[in-house]
Amino acid sequence: MDLTHRPRRLRQDGVRGLVSETSLEPTDLIAPVFVDATTDERRPIESMPGHERVPLEAAVDRVEEVLETGVEAVMLFGVPESKDPEGTRAWADDGVVQEATRRITAETDAYVVTDVCLCEYTDHGHCGTLEDGLQNGSSDGAEGDGTGDSHVPGEGHSLPEEPSITVDNDATLESLRKIAVSHADAGADMVAPSGMMDGMVGAIREALDAAGHEHVPIMSYAAKYESAFYGPFRDAADGAPAFGDRRHYQMDPANAREAVREVALDVEQGADVLMVKPALPYLDVVATVRREFDHPVAAYNVSGEYAMLQAAAEKGWLDLESVALESLLSIKRAGADLILTYFAEDVASRLIEDD
Ligand code: PBG
Repeated sequence: MDLTHRPRRLRQDGVRGLVSETSLEPTDLIAPVFVDATTDERRPIESMPGHERVPLEAAVDRVEEVLETGVEAVMLFGVPESKDPEGTRAWADDGVVQEATRRITAETDAYVVTDVCLCEYTDHGHCGTLEDGLQNGSSDGAEGDGTGDSHVPGEGHSLPEEPSITVDNDATLESLRKIAVSHADAGADMVAPSGMMDGMVGAIREALDAAGHEHVPIMSYAAKYESAFYGPFRDAADGAPAFGDRRHYQMDPANAREAVREVALDVEQGADVLMVKPALPYLDVVATVRREFDHPVAAYNVSGEYAMLQAAAEKGWLDLESVALESLLSIKRAGADLILTYFAEDVASRLIEDD
């Protein structure tokens, strides 16, 4: 055969590394850590094998375990000791994330990113303050269809008898400002608003600057979809909505062009890092954001993406190490610079072993 082009030439050992287009390093990864103020022991999260909710007393140990693998950054999620309609424990100076941040930054070199959202702190489980008339945190209080209904009744609702839940965007911005400042006051290195409120990045930037935190960057969950892949996280962080769903603030999985508009708004408002979430089912969006913007792009390889590989591996159907590594490499290939992933520690340890 007289073949000019033989791509196989470059697939031989020895040259593969030289021509590889994408690489994955432990320093590309952020490990999520759950700190739980309701417990004094480390509790495994059933739907996320290998992950735990840890009490405040164990937060530093937990982060040290992460650092030992070569991962240098953590994302803190908190489970508060109590919840209320406004989610006031989210910005309490002695709140679970604030306390954990103080301890972790005092005792370790970890780069600490904090989740700025309300769903773990509100008794109704939504990512903000509900509109008037819906403040009662139980579905009983929210019957009487139509109250606070600002989206088209019936449209897209499979359960018409469910009350329409509407998070009050602008009232929620006030809470988000307070949360972000309280995290930065406690020493957070970066804040990551995940609530998908319009204007959240601008509001937080302004509040941080006014509080003297001009140097704290914002990683915005700029294109966050209303995804069923968040299921296991909602067990982990105890943040499932008690009623209704998040479709009036999180994005419709059908839309990709809308992601570009969402991201552009966050860029205008001063976002420093742009996140797409989930990752694997939305690699087209990761690639588009990479192409359209110059900012660092983050992708969140979410709880469901982790749980499904774990479950298949448990059955012996997939090799966990290989599929985890391939997943993260694919997310980087699509254009992400950094990845939030529950695989962070395992993959980082493996990468370091291979070196
Ligand atoms: C909301 C938040 C969620 C996740 C991270 N931040 C859940 C949601 O929107 O319901 C999900 C992360 C995951 O599934 O791994 N604060």
